[in-house]
Amino acid sequence: MLTLSHISKKYGKFSALEDINIELDNGLYGVLAPNGAGKTTMIKMITTLLFPSEGIITYDGVDILEMGEKYRDLIGYLPQQFGYYKNNTPVQYLSYLASLKGIKKEEAAKKVNDLLGMVGLSDVKNKKMKKFSGGMIQRVGIAQAVLNNPKILVLDEPTAGLDPKERVRFRNIISALSKDRIVILSTHIVSDIESIANKVIMIKDKRLYSMDTVDNICERLDGKVFERDIEETEYETFEREYYVLSARQERGHLHVRYYDDKGETGDNSAFKSEKAIECLPNLEDVFLVVYQSDEYTVSTSDDIKHCI
Ligand SMILES: Nc1ncnc2c1ncn2[C@@H]1O[C@H](COP(=O)(O)OP(=O)(O)O)[C@@H](O)[C@H]1O
Ligand SMILES: [Mg+2]
Repeated sequence: MLTLSHISKKYGKFSALEDINIELDNGLYGVLAPNGAGKTTMIKMITTLLFPSEGIITYDGVDILEMGEKYRDLIGYLPQQFGYYKNNTPVQYLSYLASLKGIKKEEAAKKVNDLLGMVGLSDVKNKKMKKFSGGMIQRVGIAQAVLNNPKILVLDEPTAGLDPKERVRFRNIISALSKDRIVILSTHIVSDIESIANKVIMIKDKRLYSMDTVDNICERLDGKVFERDIEETEYETFEREYYVLSARQERGHLHVRYYDDKGETGDNSAFKSEKAIECLPNLEDVFLVVYQSDEYTVSTSDDIKHCI
């Protein structure tokens, strides 16, 4: 069990995180928040690359800073920007890292081979990485992070720059890895974690906003997400009244998905209508609603595009 108790982090006078309290057991935790919310800061404290300004992080009750090397042996980490040697092949690169981690040569050779099979890179294991796509590089990144069979696997925005197909592949690999360890994956892209996270950790205004299952988080918007057609000319007025989650053009109309916490048939609504259909809220809706009034840059997933 990994526990963060009253964790705060300041960079000089700037406070990045305040009073974070979470407990993590085996499973996949998605840290979902917009850019600048403090995801990397939290992850770097978990990997002991940064020290908390206040609070304590423990693993099975012991302060991770006291555990030192013993704790770092339990960690596998894929940083947001991960460095590799372009002229190396995956086999060379991973073998080198294995030797740094003190894995014996024969054992390392088998391990590297197995891991490259797991991430689907056996075919290119002896090709130089400079020719690799972003997705292939990230898969090498995953392989290096699990070389030591870590009990805690930490991945900071691992899908940045991947195309949708690579994302799916990546999700499947991560999901398989989360069976018997703690996996912490940070992202600002909802679809990365919506289907695979056991729990979603959301950070807002430097604090823990929620940590819950996707279903429970989405339930909070029950009865508040609708879809309907409006005329294009109505859009400006509509947008002033409701928070538009997405909109697309359809046969001369606009089909909008929107958030209405006033009650769709609110008497004062200029759009009082029976035409609206109540929808099951998804995590994308929650993300947009939770961070709507923030100064953050909110990016939506590939699936939902604002086309206005
Ligand atoms: N070394 C640093 N010095 C000062 N401010 C920092 C430093 N690293 C991050 N920050 C600030 O802390 C906040 C959180 O950053 P970060 O943890 O990188 O967020 P995220 O990973 O969610 O994008 C941001 O406002 C960022 O500008
Ligand atoms: Mg970050």
